[in-house]
Amino acid sequence: MYSQSTVIAGGLAHIPVVIGVFSFIQKFFSKRASQFPQDTEQKKSPVKPVEQKSAPKPAPVAKAETNTVVKKKHADVPVNIYRPKTPFEGTVVDNYSLLKEGAIGRVNHITFDLKDSDPFLNYVEGQSIGIMPAGEDANGKPHKLRLYSIASTRHGDDFNGNTVSLCVRQLQYEKDGETINGVCSTYLCDIKPGDKVKITGPVGKEMLLPEEEDANIVMLATGTGIAPMRAYLRRMFEPTEKEKNKWNFKGKAWLFMGAPKSANLLYEEDLQRYLSDNPDNFKYTKAISREQQNTKGGRMYIQDRVLESANELFNMIEDEKTHIYLCGLKGMEPGIDEAMTKAAEEKGLNWSELRPQLKKAGRWHVETY
Ligand code: FAD
Ligand code: A2P
Repeated sequence: MYSQSTVIAGGLAHIPVVIGVFSFIQKFFSKRASQFPQDTEQKKSPVKPVEQKSAPKPAPVAKAETNTVVKKKHADVPVNIYRPKTPFEGTVVDNYSLLKEGAIGRVNHITFDLKDSDPFLNYVEGQSIGIMPAGEDANGKPHKLRLYSIASTRHGDDFNGNTVSLCVRQLQYEKDGETINGVCSTYLCDIKPGDKVKITGPVGKEMLLPEEEDANIVMLATGTGIAPMRAYLRRMFEPTEKEKNKWNFKGKAWLFMGAPKSANLLYEEDLQRYLSDNPDNFKYTKAISREQQNTKGGRMYIQDRVLESANELFNMIEDEKTHIYLCGLKGMEPGIDEAMTKAAEEKGLNWSELRPQLKKAGRWHVETY
């Protein structure tokens, strides 16, 4: 016979054992979750935006294991479904110029069909894919892959969830009086619908959007740096995309866009449509370097526009719901830093202290190349 107190004492004595077993189960599932990253939205949304085919099944994410929200979100993001040794061969669906008459250079929008990938090559906005150009390098070895930011949302441009799109500028430069064409960018700008292309990835967790619908998103882009921003803006403002993603963006989106000429502005018609449909949620500021001048009489760059808007911008940055995304030319980073330093000073803030804080909080996102 057990007395009531013996039963209670016995029960209490088992608590550490129960906690131990529970914690083991939590750790086990948490490890699995990070091995099999999935699209968070697919789990939440009744509409399955991207078919999973034989991709790994979602593992339950342990509740108390991860100590920050940022960590948990990132664990769901797909990475390296395809690697260089076993790339997926995607079929080109579309390849067209994004430039207008009189533009400088060559910039194309290129779409690949992913539907035959198994496991399915799914991705989220802000990630990149690798492209392995056909042919061999000077040493007779296959060309190495190059990364490109994904310009489509996970639902693809046709909203069927079976494609991925890129925005590619052909690299061209002069050397010893000769024009040199970049290997992969030229390959991509030249490919035709029906061609097969080796694709790896997806990769990247630096440029992901926050989940909060009331986040503010400041975007600083030069040239093809618009690619991830185009995906974000479609996710926020493109009506059919919104129906699919069920993400009801309520914050402010502000795009600073740098291009050499008006004819080089990318996705301009879509951006103008988003502006007229969403005047309270979208702001679009252009720096057209070879048509506009900054206050010193030099080329107008996005950092000059940042300075012009210092007060408004820093009011936004002081709000912890604001994220800043920088994408495009590596060379713009010092200029942006300088502009942010001056802009911060005007508000009595110290940018060299603030920037690491923003970075640590997962609110400062940079992808330059
Ligand atoms: P390559 O044949 O590899 O030539 C490049 C090399 O040429 C350079 O390494 C350098 O050695 C040399 N070179 C370049 N310019 C000069 C010069 N002026 N003078 C002398 N030598 C020079 N690109 C896009 O178009 N769109 C994107 O969305 C995009 N996203 C990217 C995302 C990430 C994360 C990264 C890392 C890069 C991204 N890029 C993007 C750049 C892309 O990966 C390639 O680097 C670019 O297309 C050039 O590759 P290529 O094979 O054509 O050039
Ligand atoms: P510019 O080339 O007139 O000096 P694209 O990739 O289509 O050429 O666009 C890149 C844009 O970024 C151009 O307007 C280019 O100006 C501009 N740019 C070039 N260097 C910098 C820099 N250091 N900081 C900011 N913008 C830059």
